[in-house]
Amino acid sequence: MKLWEGRFDAPTAKNADLFGDSLPFDRQLWAVDITASLAHAAMLGSCGIISIEDAQSICNGLEGIASDIEAGKLEIAGAEDIHSFVENELVSRIGEAGKRLHTARSRNDQVATDFRLYARGSFDNLCDSLINLVEALVGKAGEGVKYIMPAYTHLRKAQPICAGHFFNAYAEMFMRDLDRVSASRERANVMPLGSGALAGTSYPIDRDVTSRMLEFDRPCENSLDGVSDRDFVAEYLFDASLVMAHLSRLCEDIILYTSEEFGYLEISDAYSTGSSIMPQKKNPDIAELIRGKTGRVYGHLMALLTTVKGIPLAYNKDLQEDKEGFFDAEKQVINCVDIMAEMLGAISFRVKNMQTAAEGDFCCATDVADYLAKRGVPFRTAHAIVGKIVRSCIADGKTLQTMTADDYRQFAREFDGDIVEAVKGKACADARTSYGGGSANNVKAEIKSLKKRLKKYL
Ligand code: ARG
Repeated sequence: MKLWEGRFDAPTAKNADLFGDSLPFDRQLWAVDITASLAHAAMLGSCGIISIEDAQSICNGLEGIASDIEAGKLEIAGAEDIHSFVENELVSRIGEAGKRLHTARSRNDQVATDFRLYARGSFDNLCDSLINLVEALVGKAGEGVKYIMPAYTHLRKAQPICAGHFFNAYAEMFMRDLDRVSASRERANVMPLGSGALAGTSYPIDRDVTSRMLEFDRPCENSLDGVSDRDFVAEYLFDASLVMAHLSRLCEDIILYTSEEFGYLEISDAYSTGSSIMPQKKNPDIAELIRGKTGRVYGHLMALLTTVKGIPLAYNKDLQEDKEGFFDAEKQVINCVDIMAEMLGAISFRVKNMQTAAEGDFCCATDVADYLAKRGVPFRTAHAIVGKIVRSCIADGKTLQTMTADDYRQFAREFDGDIVEAVKGKACADARTSYGGGSANNVKAEIKSLKKRLKKYL
């Protein structure tokens, strides 16, 4: 039965129904729809808008529907949307009283309320997954404290760092995501229920009561905005998109660092795949797939922003398009964050390769220039001297580490015997003790700081 058929002489065309129905996807909202209706019915009863007996029988009926759906005894089908389904089912179970549930309410404030209740859970789930991921990265950073690796600019070797610094960098990104998702959750927690179709209602409803019952922070202050605001959907999609961007960058680094060319990290067999034709292959499919799914989540954000950009106040059917992208984005982002956290546990360091690479290709050249600058040579002059050293090393097949102190002295008299130690990869990494720099001690301090910041969410 249509909730609105009284006005119509003839039924809608089958294809019109198929085109407009949202039940195939908004069925996911069944639990929050019932939760919101329970609060609404109780409020109608306590405000004397319907009788206490009717309110009670509505609540009993709704609880029966919830437990039947839960137990798989009631199939969600045969209605335009989840709101119609629940209401029809209620009326068929309890009769007249059920027809009073929709007093002082519209599907417009109902769906906005349901979706916020649902999204609240989605924000919370994403927070949980992010906490787990930050913990996994911090764990990896802890393992990496002992090792060094090269860091890059322009994907060219730049300077040696403690390997933990790399994982902490990603932990920072997901920590920001965690803060962002939790702030978005807070902004989303405002209740549209009581906005009616668009202009509120003439019944003496008490929106503070429903707001408290549904654990919202407050009722929204403008009914037109209440029924049509989907900022919380856009925020979830943006937050999810940025999480995906960070994941995708991490994936790219993992793909590079596990390649034969780099060889710094190894993904265990359990999280790798092979080739149907090339027997030697070990592919980083999981990382590639996460990188690949990023575009899809961005797409959902663009779709929603485009949907809302041209709609006049207040509710328009366009807004029904807010759900499918959200549900898919939620599934993708949670899956990606969770599998990444799991896969990190299966990644090991190829210590020797990282160490060799961190000293190779003149990665410590800045440190040689700094050595001279600290002994009075102006940095720009020191830079030029080391440039010459690098050129002569390339010509003679030497490295900064195979040069002797005497070799160095040919280029500047400020070089002492200690240059030989100063130019080792580990010494160079650990010398970067400036706040936030890549020394092992800083990595340890940052791990502590990240753990402390995480505590707020545990
Ligand atoms: N299925 C609709 C949606 O998701 C519910 C609200 C319907 N309201 C209306 N006036 N047709 O947006």
